[in-house]
Amino acid sequence: MAKVVGVVDISHVPSIGVAIKNGKQEDPYWKPWFDGLKPVREWLGNIKPTTAVIFYNDHGMNFFLDAMPTFAIGCAPKYEAVDEGWGLPLFSGYPGNEPLSWHIREALHTAEIDMVVCQEMLVDHAVTLPIEMFWPKQECPVKIVPININTVLFPTPTPSRCEKLGKAVGDAIAKWDAPNEKILIMGTGGLSHQLEGKRAGFINKKFDFQCMDNLVNNLEWFRQYTSEDCVELAGTQGLEIINWVASRAAYPGQMKQVYRFNHIPVSNTSGSILALEPA
Ligand code: DHB
Ligand code: FE
Repeated sequence: MAKVVGVVDISHVPSIGVAIKNGKQEDPYWKPWFDGLKPVREWLGNIKPTTAVIFYNDHGMNFFLDAMPTFAIGCAPKYEAVDEGWGLPLFSGYPGNEPLSWHIREALHTAEIDMVVCQEMLVDHAVTLPIEMFWPKQECPVKIVPININTVLFPTPTPSRCEKLGKAVGDAIAKWDAPNEKILIMGTGGLSHQLEGKRAGFINKKFDFQCMDNLVNNLEWFRQYTSEDCVELAGTQGLEIINWVASRAAYPGQMKQVYRFNHIPVSNTSGSILALEPA
């Protein structure tokens, strides 16, 4: 039995990485966001996870519109990072927890959830930046299992389907025989934002707060929404909330909120952090 030590969800805005690279943490624009990261860093320093299972969405660096899986899992010993041209600070490779990846992949197959299996996988800012924000100035201290969800090319999976994915991943983790592993479940992206078109800059703080309220212990609330509803309510890229839904569903029991933070805007995004621990 591997132990889940927490669930943490965080926005993955690339310009945060540029601010890190340029040492802008104390800049008036960036200070609130970087100050908001401090409690979550402290919490992670206390719970010391050994592996992070990361629900995220690829931004066209590994998958593109010509070949877009609904769900994909990395099953590799190491992941190379790519940068879409932002000049992001990247660690030199992200270690994979390959045995856990294969274990989850087998369990999902048995649960009739089809994953594209990637024995090589490039990870972009949706994976690298949360790690960089949580554990600055060191090599990646956790082994990762990247699980990619299509939030880009319609039809995209509904929140309820992502809940099923997350639940099956959680069931697999519970059956993984690794008593010394401490698993952190991560969901990245969101909350509300839209980068293009007439509604560029759209933010819906009310919906974001409802999402954070209900993520703690009421995932049923998300089942009322289709993908189109999520786009309407949270913006085109705000659909990334489904990564958060999957992450929370991967812990089966009640949770308690350790930390919650929101700052608007971070670039175009309702910058948000939610940290949960088993209750
Ligand atoms: C922004 C947010 C994202 O989630 C992303 O993938 C790219 C850009 C932004 O707000 O700038
Ligand atoms: Fe994104």
